[in-house]
Amino acid sequence: RVVKKEGKLENLKGLLQSEAKLFSSLVIGHTRWATHGAVNDTNAHPHENETFAIVHNGIIENASKLKEEIVKSDYQFKSETDSEVFLAYLTLEFEKLNDVTKAIINTFKKVEGNSAFVIIHKTNHQIFAIKKSAPLVCGVNEKAGEVFVSSDPYALIGFATKIYFPDDNILCVGDNRNATQILGFYDMEENPSHAYKVQEKEMTMDVVSKGKFDHFMLKEIFEQPELVNRIISIYAQGQAKQDLQKIADTKPSLMHIIACGTALHAGLLIKSFLENINAIPTQSDYASEFRYRNPLLSKGQAGLFISQSGETADTLACQELCKERGLKTYSIVNVDGSTLFRNCDENLLIHAGTEIGVASTKAFTQMVLVGYLLSQAYEGKVDTPEIQQEFKNVATAISKILEREEEIKSIAKEIYNYKGFIFTGRGQQFPVALEGALKLKEIAYVHAEGYAAGELKHGPIALFDETMVNIAIVTNELYEKTLSNAQEVKARNGVMVVLGDGENKELQEISKYYFGIDYCGVKDLKPVVSNVVLQLLSYYVAKQKGTDIDKPRNLAKSVTVE
Ligand code: AGP
Repeated sequence: RVVKKEGKLENLKGLLQSEAKLFSSLVIGHTRWATHGAVNDTNAHPHENETFAIVHNGIIENASKLKEEIVKSDYQFKSETDSEVFLAYLTLEFEKLNDVTKAIINTFKKVEGNSAFVIIHKTNHQIFAIKKSAPLVCGVNEKAGEVFVSSDPYALIGFATKIYFPDDNILCVGDNRNATQILGFYDMEENPSHAYKVQEKEMTMDVVSKGKFDHFMLKEIFEQPELVNRIISIYAQGQAKQDLQKIADTKPSLMHIIACGTALHAGLLIKSFLENINAIPTQSDYASEFRYRNPLLSKGQAGLFISQSGETADTLACQELCKERGLKTYSIVNVDGSTLFRNCDENLLIHAGTEIGVASTKAFTQMVLVGYLLSQAYEGKVDTPEIQQEFKNVATAISKILEREEEIKSIAKEIYNYKGFIFTGRGQQFPVALEGALKLKEIAYVHAEGYAAGELKHGPIALFDETMVNIAIVTNELYEKTLSNAQEVKARNGVMVVLGDGENKELQEISKYYFGIDYCGVKDLKPVVSNVVLQLLSYYVAKQKGTDIDKPRNLAKSVTVE
């Protein structure tokens, strides 16, 4: 049986419920993020014919070339997808060889690009999975005799008791009728292989429940004070402290910070720490740009890759590039055992726990904090009372913001209908402006931009009139200059939402809505605190708009295509 439905999973759920008694002990499914062909039922996975059913995550870069070869053999394509090319080639190989494993391996060798495939042969009671530079994990529950395959280990929480992270080019074969080995791994020559990492982890269902919160995003925002307290205790001792030290033992001549989206915004703050605290020359790049800009790389430099998922295709490609050129590669990453984690020389886990909301919140905070700890490690200061105090203050300041949730909600209610939003800040608050704007656009679907406050007069100020909101972060860093920028917008009738340092009459006067932040003595990590105000503001603007906050349209939690 194949059941597919365009749109949200809810639509599929409805359809499955209306199906009379669906039962099978062998099932595959996939939520497609369209790369080839429109978003519709036909292009949805699985793709199947009389012999095989497959799901595919990634891109087949030579799909059109292969398709030309395949059409010569009269194969009838049903969809416009690149994924069906794999199915077609596989079917033809199987017709030639009459050997499922060989047919899969040959087809897999033929396709170019980063992909993971899961395959069912219709009369053979096995499930096959294989990948190249794309996320794929296998799980088993030995007691229940169950095998699972997923692109994300968190999907297996509550189901699998043991998780396997296979290497690239390893064929995973699941067979729940095979009492001695329900999951096997084979290399491209079909020899049994041990090229995988195993994790026996206590993974409980409560991490995937929203608890008292309406959305995972809100739950994750509220977890932050506790996570801040936890991360400092983790890195002040033991293995984690040693991991920091291993990196900090050698100062690179140049640090390349490479990431995408929110992770890059965290990286911009880490750049400021490395430059200001450690005098390490640092460059930061979007991974998608770095890999094609022919960066001048040489030994002695290092690459710092930041990622929540550890599976972002562009970030992974940059890590590979740096490694090839002889650089040491380090990660700041959330998912233990992810591809990035496995490929880097050293890793610093951010211990944010599962982040389910597509819009990253707590992971951003933890990335910045771990980057800050790395910077302190270069100075040998990770476990000093000053650093302990800084983290305590951050946790308190964030808690105080969370207590003012209602105040932020009421600002959101006032502003959500304006035409556009420009976020501004200077110095360390500039990456926060970028992050605030990204959060708002991704979950509220409104036009938002982050700008360096000093850049407004070079163009964007032309946008301002009474229909446009300026969310200005005017803290004590470069106060006079940032204040002038805010006054310039106010003079052009922009709607001023100002975030400042505590009570401030001057700022209150120019603001339509003023939010004075009590930083509670925080010194270096103020941006992490201001960012929490923007997380809540975006959340409540999106709530007013009625969008799908945890799963915004067109977005995926792990971006595994470039
Ligand atoms: C964050 O809210 C976004 N959904 C997105 O920008 C994300 O940060 C980016 O895709 C990078 O993901 P990663 O941290 O898993 O590498």
